[in-house]
Amino acid sequence: MDEFVSAKQPRTLKTVTGAGGTSETYDLAVDPTRSTLDTAVRVAKLAEAARIDALFTADLLSFGAQGAIGSQEPLVFVSALSQVTSRIGLIATVSTTFNHPFNLARLFGTLDHVSNGRAAWNLVTSSIGEENFGPGELPSPEERYARAAETLEVVNALWDSWEPGALTVGPDGSAVLHRDRVRPINHSGRFFDVAGPLNIPPLPQRRPVQMQAGQSEAGTALGARYAEVVFTSLPTLDHALDFTRAIRGRAERFGRADGLPLIFSSFHATYGATEAEARQLVRERRESIDFERGRAQVADMLGGGLDLSELPLDAKLPESLLPEITSVNRRRGRVDIFAGYVRQGRTLRELVVAAQDTGHWAAAGTPEQLADAVEERFRAGVLDVITLGGLADPREHDFVVNGLLHELRRRRIVAPDYTGTTLRENLGLRLPARDDSAVRT
Ligand SMILES: Cc1cc2nc3c(=O)[nH]c(=O)nc-3n(C[C@H](O)[C@H](O)[C@H](O)COP(=O)(O)O)c2cc1C
Repeated sequence: MDEFVSAKQPRTLKTVTGAGGTSETYDLAVDPTRSTLDTAVRVAKLAEAARIDALFTADLLSFGAQGAIGSQEPLVFVSALSQVTSRIGLIATVSTTFNHPFNLARLFGTLDHVSNGRAAWNLVTSSIGEENFGPGELPSPEERYARAAETLEVVNALWDSWEPGALTVGPDGSAVLHRDRVRPINHSGRFFDVAGPLNIPPLPQRRPVQMQAGQSEAGTALGARYAEVVFTSLPTLDHALDFTRAIRGRAERFGRADGLPLIFSSFHATYGATEAEARQLVRERRESIDFERGRAQVADMLGGGLDLSELPLDAKLPESLLPEITSVNRRRGRVDIFAGYVRQGRTLRELVVAAQDTGHWAAAGTPEQLADAVEERFRAGVLDVITLGGLADPREHDFVVNGLLHELRRRRIVAPDYTGTTLRENLGLRLPARDDSAVRT
């Protein structure tokens, strides 16, 4: 079954930028005349003017986590941005571990309605925040992913619970509900009992675009089965080739269309008008690293159970310190990446430097050089969607829009304009097939 709308259109790279709603919220606390949305509205309008495909929000459910302080609730935040934009997609990262599928179906359903078909859900299972959802520990990855899979079965069945023709237009032009075409799902599973049907009308996209982040064994299996787009941290081309080969192979075994799921990579770019300028910025950032604090960051990247306080910075990390991956309860995908670095013989100092990008793809150079790096992955088929950060900062905005994006459009890698009205159309994704077997009378 072909899940791509644009099988005949040339493949183009899709673009995403951060919606904001994080730390700058703090600054506004001292300026009551401005709202938390101000910067985000400006960024959203700049992004739409640049024809960027979507705005992205992360989901951080704990005060202490890196970057979490001031982090607004994603769905409320992008819903507000839906009213100051008309074409750009709206991606909300939301956890299945700390939410109920009936609420999730309604929350994303309403986002798709109020945005007229621009909603996307980046599903995560969370690796932090359990202290706020007690009693109890963070469930194991196996438990979290089993709950995530059942959640997807339930929300998809709820979004399919209104059959075609359930809503028609009466002789006076008003909507007519045909109750017999709205069916309960009567789901009974390990985690949830949900009768349904959903009590909001069919979504403009019928289902929001389904994304997922989490690249452990279990995460990859979930993404291969259900995701249309997987958000990844793939620091090198080899990581991207291995991951893409693995997830596409699994997706094929689930009967998914060729080229699914789309590979969405975070991209940490350092721009310079010259290569020397970019290198200088990287050098300055490295010189400002607190390597003593970095020891804890590396321990966190390796699953958290390590004490690296005594190890000399220029010594290699003994492989004997590496945790057994099945004993790691948080972000096994990222632990895999950093364990790989240890096996490559990197010193603690080099690991601290790598930890600044938390396993994401980082590159520095002129817009042309960065376009070369992007084009290499795009042509290799391991990059379909990319993050372009920094629009709130005028210098970065200029490099992103008038530099990298312009160059990628000159190379016909990124489309010059939106191709549809819904996010699904702009990503070249077809409406997923209804699964009437999930709707039980
Ligand atoms: C690129 C990327 C971005 C992620 N973003 C978030 C996020 O914003 N909020 C969150 O709770 N988890 C996030 N996660 C982690 C997911 O919660 C993931 O399901 C969980 O850590 C388990 O990861 P694992 O499959 O690697 O073990 C992200 C993971 C990746 C790979």
